[in-house]
Amino acid sequence: MKKPNVYVTRMLPQPAVDLLREHCEVEINPEDRVLTHAELLEKVRGRDAVLCLLTDTIDEAVLAAAGPQCKIFSNYAVGFNNIDVEAATRHKIMVSNTPDVLTDATADLAWSLLFATARRVVESDKFLRDGCYKGWGPMLLLGLDITGKTLGVIGTGRIGANFAAKAKGFKMKVLYNDLEPNPAFEAETGGVFVDKATLLKEADFVSLHVPLLPSTRHLIGPAEFKLMKKTAVLINTSRGPVVDEKALAEALQLGEIWGAGLDVFENEPAVEPELLKCENAVLLPHVASATVETRTNMGLIAVRNILAAMKGETPPTLVNRELLA
Ligand code: GLV
Ligand code: GLV
Repeated sequence: MKKPNVYVTRMLPQPAVDLLREHCEVEINPEDRVLTHAELLEKVRGRDAVLCLLTDTIDEAVLAAAGPQCKIFSNYAVGFNNIDVEAATRHKIMVSNTPDVLTDATADLAWSLLFATARRVVESDKFLRDGCYKGWGPMLLLGLDITGKTLGVIGTGRIGANFAAKAKGFKMKVLYNDLEPNPAFEAETGGVFVDKATLLKEADFVSLHVPLLPSTRHLIGPAEFKLMKKTAVLINTSRGPVVDEKALAEALQLGEIWGAGLDVFENEPAVEPELLKCENAVLLPHVASATVETRTNMGLIAVRNILAAMKGETPPTLVNRELLA
């Protein structure tokens, strides 16, 4: 039987590529860069499956260009806001993502950002390398305590819950907000459900774990920064547009909040220039899932979703399950 024809939009960890090549004819974008929309339109044409990334905009035009034989766009990410899922469903194309395998890595990075921001790790390292370290000082680079503080978690999916559960070791009080109370989250984390305003007013650290949806765009903006404590730290490992980045830069500069740790930005890879000037912000290039083990596992799951679709089976982490109806 003819092997399925699969396009991969960028090089992935080798074990994933090897598994895919065992079962499929595979073409991989040879360049380590994001394809343009025009290139995507051309490259997906006639494929049985496409393995794409969160940096690829998969709109209706790309889905239509793939053609009616195309079964699946397998996204190498847990988030799938880069794909027009409704259009995919209309074209009877399955969409899958890579949840679960990156939950720990992403929650761990949210903690890294929290520590790095509260204890001024990046600034301290720079201070030393710049030759400014002239000896121990009682007032040198003072940060914030973490243990015993109040953690505010917005969004209680897998990552939010994992992040909050890890607060136990630091004896933190956990407040959370979501569309509705989440008993499983409460059982796992001891978290207390509060409205968003209460959370913002009471939390010492606010961490965002919501998907990007029209309802979560600019969930945190000027009004929210005014509610937060002047000593509060904002952590965002979800999606950039959840935070109004200009308003954040202003809040940091005016001292409305104490600091911010960000792994995601509104217009990646561009970063608001005013934010780059803020020493009280730790800014990372979207690396939350970037560990050797996690990226390999994401690749294997993305490939397994394709292999299942090719066999007429349900991909293990199918997003548009309405296609099964
Ligand atoms: C990363 O941002 C992902 O959605 O996997
Ligand atoms: C989001 O995708 C999550 O797993 O929390």
